[in-house]
Amino acid sequence: MESWAQKRPNVQYLCVCVDSQGVAFQFQQMFGFQHAKNCWIPDRRYFPVGYGQLGCSGFVISDEDGLFVSRKTTSYLNYGEKAFDDVDDILDKLLEKKKDNKENYSPTSSVTPLKTENREEKAPKRQKKEEEEKKMEIEVPKSVGVDSMDEDHEECAVAIALLIKTRSVDALQTVSQQLIHHFNEEEELMQKHNFGNANDDPSNEFSAYRNHVKDHKRILEIINREINAVALVSSACCGAKGTSTCETTKKLAKVDTQVIKEIVEAFSNHTEKYDSLYGHVIPSNAS
Ligand SMILES: [Fe+2]
Repeated sequence: MESWAQKRPNVQYLCVCVDSQGVAFQFQQMFGFQHAKNCWIPDRRYFPVGYGQLGCSGFVISDEDGLFVSRKTTSYLNYGEKAFDDVDDILDKLLEKKKDNKENYSPTSSVTPLKTENREEKAPKRQKKEEEEKKMEIEVPKSVGVDSMDEDHEECAVAIALLIKTRSVDALQTVSQQLIHHFNEEEELMQKHNFGNANDDPSNEFSAYRNHVKDHKRILEIINREINAVALVSSACCGAKGTSTCETTKKLAKVDTQVIKEIVEAFSNHTEKYDSLYGHVIPSNAS
């Protein structure tokens, strides 16, 4: 949000904490808001009624008169980073509308004509893709303040590093197993210490716990989609599931680089934006 606010100084970005003032201060430390405004709702009486959600489920956008343009933009929990393109599109249209000098505005000016790519244009693109692939790496996440979770994160990062290196389906399945195991343990801990209203009314849209769990599911869905895609290819190649030919095809199959990139981003973003929040509620030696 801070980088958005820097990019668009004519839009007011508000990060409204629905937890405590302490969590708002924690967000300030984490994100260093300067251009975006950091605020909190002091009491449940001030909560919006009938709509509203945590930022990872979508943003609320209003125009300069306070009229809603969107009560819920595309959700990060469903679309990852791509969800933010929706916010940019809405703001682009809103700001375009506002332009006083309409004479110079042509409705087609924002449409880039399609070009036929030639070999010369493709070559640098391919080279760029290869460079990006080479650069892909996973770092062990920073401590989240709970030792057992730090250990889990390190194990998950090691499994993802192996996936980057080998691109094998077996490595992808290991990542899946590690993450499932870790997410289960983490969710149990959050419930035990009632992080993010874990034990409150399940319909509470503002529960940090429930949104956290949704992000776990989103990450596992990215992995499951790829596992299913590979399974489909191998069964299509050999004609029957589970035969030795199938196993060979599976061994030869490579996990899509784009998917690995998505997993790396999703895991890194998750530990940074979600896991870093429970350290002040769950004791460091909890297990
Ligand atoms: Fe988590």
